[in-house]
Amino acid sequence: MAKVEVNLPQTKYTVLIEEGLLDRVGSLIGKQWSSRKIALITDTNVGPLYQQQVVDQLTSQGFTVCDYVVKAGEASKAWPVVADLATKMAADHFTRSDGVIALGGGVVGDLAGFTASIYMRGISFIQIPTSLLAQVDSSVGGKTAIDLGEAKNIIGTFYQPDAVYIDPLTLKTMTDRYVAEGYGEIVKTAALDSQDFWHLIQQINSVDDIRAHATELSQRSIGYKARIVMEDEKEAGNRQLLNFGHTMGHAIELLAHGDLAHGEAVSVGMVHIMQVFEDLGLARIGITAEIKDRVSVVGLPTESALLGTPDFYEKIKNDKKNKNGTLNLVYVEDYGKPHIHGIPTDSVKEFFKE
Ligand SMILES: NC(=O)c1ccc[n+]([C@@H]2O[C@H](COP(=O)([O-])OP(=O)(O)OC[C@H]3O[C@@H](n4cnc5c(N)ncnc54)[C@H](O)[C@@H]3O)[C@@H](O)[C@H]2O)c1
Repeated sequence: MAKVEVNLPQTKYTVLIEEGLLDRVGSLIGKQWSSRKIALITDTNVGPLYQQQVVDQLTSQGFTVCDYVVKAGEASKAWPVVADLATKMAADHFTRSDGVIALGGGVVGDLAGFTASIYMRGISFIQIPTSLLAQVDSSVGGKTAIDLGEAKNIIGTFYQPDAVYIDPLTLKTMTDRYVAEGYGEIVKTAALDSQDFWHLIQQINSVDDIRAHATELSQRSIGYKARIVMEDEKEAGNRQLLNFGHTMGHAIELLAHGDLAHGEAVSVGMVHIMQVFEDLGLARIGITAEIKDRVSVVGLPTESALLGTPDFYEKIKNDKKNKNGTLNLVYVEDYGKPHIHGIPTDSVKEFFKE
């Protein structure tokens, strides 16, 4: 079993990663939590696959379980869904000493975490991420969020789980496209982290390779994210490094209106921001081609006609991560050598075209 410890000033928790862990998750939660009522939140895709198995185990551990299923997809990260969940929890007499478990991808994790953080000013929370993106990224770090229309993740909280339980075998029921998408974030993390992590990336030549190495890939990605979050829980400094590939990526993701998945947009964003910095002489010559090769080999896109359009620059200028007229761009000089490069928001177009 692989393990990552997250130690923060106010709390600490463990991330456990093991193939087949879902078969014994009930007893793990039985050791983590005292007897209580549990809101098990999942979605319409994950529910039919894994919900009953988890409910049965929790029940046999003596927990009372109320299972709530939301519609699969980003549209569930919305106020009415939070209100509906909280209303059901209140009707089912949930109190502050009860708990919420997220069983699903990043959407369920963000939604359930947000609901847990505001229900009665916060009740305990556990993550059981089932998508690659959630396993390597969103389930750890404590960011929760919902969207307001097109404004993604604009309402949220920092709220850490009590534990994160990952079973890489759940990736078997995910489509190749979603697995590749989650892998976009892994390539990002490996480039930020080290030559050593990059060597592992060089061994991944297909989506099946991702599934086969999922435990190690998750452990390394989460290990890196945990280190960054432990230094900078509220994103005042180095946590911004995790935005590598996201400035351009986020803009084209919005402009693609659902045609580009998040990790696909990050893949394009990473390659293009690296080209900008390689051309400026700030990144090692050849590194952009290497990153491009590693994302293409699993079928991730590296080009988009949306890059460089007037709407693209408009979206970047309005990105909520811009601070006091400055846009912080992340690039790697080489693997394991990331930098944050601030430019005036008004000069984005000129900077990218130089
Ligand atoms: N909180 C954070 O730090 C953070 C970080 C990155 C992304 N996010 C958020 O995460 C979300 C994206 O996460 P995602 O890609 O997991 O999306 P998702 O939750 O929509 O999951 C993708 C799809 O896969 C399905 N699915 C999940 N696990 C499955 C499984 N094992 N088998 C079959 N189908 C499965 C889901 O039902 C969904 O249809 C976005 O809302 C994004 O904003 C949050």
